[in-house]
Order: sequence, then structure tokens, then C-alpha cells
Amino acid sequence: MNLTYDIQHFDKEWDKLAFAFQEQLLNLDQDHFERPWPRDSWEQLLSGSGREFQVSTLLVDQKIMGFVLFLVEKFEKRAHLVKILCHPKIRGLGLGYKLLSISQKRLVDLYAVSVFDLEVETNNNAALGLYRKLGYKKIRQLKDLYGASMHGVAMQVKIR
Ligand SMILES: CC(C)(COP(=O)(O)OP(=O)(O)OC[C@H]1O[C@@H](n2cnc3c(N)ncnc32)[C@H](O)[C@@H]1OP(=O)(O)O)[C@@H](O)C(=O)NCCC(=O)NCCS
Repeated sequence: MNLTYDIQHFDKEWDKLAFAFQEQLLNLDQDHFERPWPRDSWEQLLSGSGREFQVSTLLVDQKIMGFVLFLVEKFEKRAHLVKILCHPKIRGLGLGYKLLSISQKRLVDLYAVSVFDLEVETNNNAALGLYRKLGYKKIRQLKDLYGASMHGVAMQVKIR
């Protein structure tokens, strides 16, 4: 399939973003993420918490079809991948890989981020495959991270 896509980044205050843009992002999260966040959580993290972040969006036909959210510790040159999602219609086409690698590259170029880390559920094979392809390695097992018997792993990649 030949899809035209674009990747855009923002790291401004959530409340300065266009409402339509916020809605598209929230809807994608609500409709297709296993554990979506309510609007309050997005607002608190991206607006009230004082945390530095980067959201990169994947636009296909000018619609947001994917996103990745990083929290950034600029001083420590670290970034934590909070969540990544591609719409089910466009999965398996290499776009999640493009979205994540381009988002990471911007953080390396802008802030010299040298360590990326994340947590993921042990049975999420698609996400595990994506992270391994980008060089992430398991650093810890996290028992019951997502609930009883829903274990997770912490992963990390160091950029040289
Ligand atoms: C994880 C996710 C973002 C991957 O996006 P995607 O666009 O489908 O991934 P890509 O097509 O770019 O694939 C990149 C690599 O991921 C792995 N991968 C993707 N889908 C896979 C699957 N169903 N099974 C196993 N590995 C898979 C492969 O290693 C693949 O590389 P390859 O094609 O060279 O083998 C997508 O599956 C998704 O949105 N899942 C739901 C949300 C989620 O679980 N997010 C992660 C937790 S925050």
C-alpha cells in the first residue's frame, strides 16, 4: 500500500493546541488503546505538571492516525516513552517504526537525549517487536505491573 504520511511534533502547552487537534488525539487514544486516559490525565500531564514532553503525530490524509508521547528529562538527557499508538487500519506497514524513530531522532538532535526507556506488557508482541527493532533491551521484569498476572518489562536503549 502506498500511503502519503507526515510526522509532526509538538512540545508546547496542551491548552495552546487547537481544540480539533486535541480531540483527534484523545479519540484515537479512547477508541484504540487498551488503557486509554481520560481528558483530565492528558491535561494534567501536558499542561499542569510542569513536565517537559514531546508528542509526535502521524498524519495520513491529514488525519491523525498515530502518535507517540515522550516525557523528557532534558538535564539528564533521558526520555521516557509513555505511549505509542497506530490506528489498527495502518498497522503492520512500517509506520509505527517511522513514527518512533523520527520522534526519537528529534529528541537526540534537539536535546542530545542519550537514553530512552519504557515499560511494556510482556504479551504485547507487536510493541516488543517494534522496540527491539529500535535496539531496546530488557532491563527489568515488572511483576503485575498492569494488574494481577499482567506482567511488564522495562526496556532501554542507549544512543551513542
Ligand atoms: C505497537 C504499534 C505502535 C506498532 O505499530 P506498527 O505500525 O504496526 O509497527 P510497524 O509496522 O512499524 O512494525 C515495526 C516492527 O514491529 C514489530 N511488529 C509489528 N507488528 C507486529 C506484530 N503484530 N507481531 C509481532 N511483531 C510486530 C516487527 O518487528 C516490525 O518490524 P518488521 O516489519 O521489520 O518485522 C501498534 O501495533 C499499536 O498501535 N499497538 C497498540 C498500542 C500499543 O500496544 N502500544 C504500545 C504500548 S504503549
